[in-house]
Amino acid sequence: MTTRIAVVTGGIGGLGSEICRYLARAGRRVIAADLGARAERIDAFRAEMADIDGRVAFEPVDVSDFDSCADLIRRVEAKHGAVDILVNAAGITRDTSLRKMTPEQWRTLMQVNLDGVFNMCRQVVDGMSARGFGRIVNISSVNGQTGQFGQTNYAAAKAGMHGFSMALAREVAKKGVTVNSVSPGYCRTAMVMAVPEEIRNQIVAQIPVGRLGEPADIARTVEFLTADDAGFITGANIPVNGGYFMSF
Ligand SMILES: NC(=O)c1ccc[n+]([C@@H]2O[C@H](COP(=O)([O-])OP(=O)(O)OC[C@H]3O[C@@H](n4cnc5c(N)ncnc54)[C@H](O)[C@@H]3O)[C@@H](O)[C@H]2O)c1
Repeated sequence: MTTRIAVVTGGIGGLGSEICRYLARAGRRVIAADLGARAERIDAFRAEMADIDGRVAFEPVDVSDFDSCADLIRRVEAKHGAVDILVNAAGITRDTSLRKMTPEQWRTLMQVNLDGVFNMCRQVVDGMSARGFGRIVNISSVNGQTGQFGQTNYAAAKAGMHGFSMALAREVAKKGVTVNSVSPGYCRTAMVMAVPEEIRNQIVAQIPVGRLGEPADIARTVEFLTADDAGFITGANIPVNGGYFMSF
């Protein structure tokens, strides 16, 4: 079997690192791409990945910067080979009500969460199409489907990601490239665990399965969508939210 090369942005984050682990265990060669600034986080990630050693590499990138993304893909191709799988999991929040939101808070979030998806996809789509195989998964959010107080910027970017995915899915469907989004609900990551316990309990009370999602719940969905035989699923959004938001 061909060893597929997978790039995961936000690859050392809560969900990203679990996605890296799942893809590596599925036999992929994985490149975790994330901000390069904090050496201690990168070291901790390397230590965490020691059990699948040799299958997960780290490369720095700033997804909000088009040239940084181009440079990342050039380095990955030179070191590992052409990119078959791209998972866009880099993301930030800049929560505040619209009345208080500064243009800077709006712009910074858009540059990472939405421009970042364009900046990365733009680098890999030609190659994937030419080779006749590609899997792109964009990590959106349930809050892009429902909206959330204090998140006009985040909800707009996350909903935008899905529109982007559907449009790109149509452009590359005949080339063996699929493009989907995954919309996690509230997951047990640092971001959510930082929410005061009382508020977290109120959130859990609204989740029909009665618990927060685990990073593994998201990672196994990404593994499924990026499998070689998942070629008939494209332009879809897969909600993974414990029933918190149900729709069809
Ligand atoms: N945790 C949840 O419950 C949850 C729910 C819904 C959606 N999401 C989405 O899932 C994705 C991952 O979230 P997480 O919980 O793992 O958060 P996280 O903060 O642990 O991980 C996000 C990662 O993105 C990286 N990043 C930020 N800006 C970047 C940039 N400019 N370039 C490259 N990397 C950058 C961060 O360094 C971090 O490692 C995000 O897009 C988030 O919006 C998370």
